[in-house]
Amino acid sequence: MIETATGAPSLRLAEWARRSGTSALQTMLSVGTRPGTISLALGLPAPELFPVAEYGSAAAAVLDENPAALQYSPPHAPLQTQVAALMAQRGVAFAPEQVFLTAGAQQGLSLLARLLLEPGGEVIAETLCYTGFQQAVEPFSPRLLTVPTDPETGMDVDAVEALLVGGARPAFIYTVPDGHNPLAEMIDEAVARLGRALQTATP
Ligand SMILES: Cc1ncc(COP(=O)(O)O)c(C=O)c1O
Repeated sequence: MIETATGAPSLRLAEWARRSGTSALQTMLSVGTRPGTISLALGLPAPELFPVAEYGSAAAAVLDENPAALQYSPPHAPLQTQVAALMAQRGVAFAPEQVFLTAGAQQGLSLLARLLLEPGGEVIAETLCYTGFQQAVEPFSPRLLTVPTDPETGMDVDAVEALLVGGARPAFIYTVPDGHNPLAEMIDEAVARLGRALQTATP
């Protein structure tokens, strides 16, 4: 604890947190949710379109049948199976026990950064990318190597290849192949090229 100018105790934040300041997402959320504002800056669907009744009855049915659903437990096997079946329909095959359930994509990003990134390690990302990505990697003070984003085709794979050939060894490369944020594009062609570039540039 340290004392503020008014004498009230305040927490001494870690260096990265002191550096990071207000996030762009936080600012967009407070501006975009003001009464009378319809913001197209974030993925905020009209609340009247949410299936409120269906969510309510699904939650009630689960809690009626199995109050232990509120208990700590290993990952919920039926949900893992459901996720694996859905992904198989989309052409991505894996076993249900390989599914790691998270509270959302942001938590998944943060966990991956913790798993893969050393403090000060390299990461390749696009100049146009989801702003929450920065929050996920910031605690590790990474060396961010950015490559241009083409509005039509997404990540500039040639620029990635040049970085790899030049000796870059990123902990990971961040891109969003489907529903790219902010382009909303499907850039699977760039991702396929990226896979080939990785094979040839990092033998
Ligand atoms: C590319 C991308 N990753 C992560 C997120 C955060 O997702 P979640 O709300 O599931 O944590 C978003 C939200 O818009 C996103 O666009």
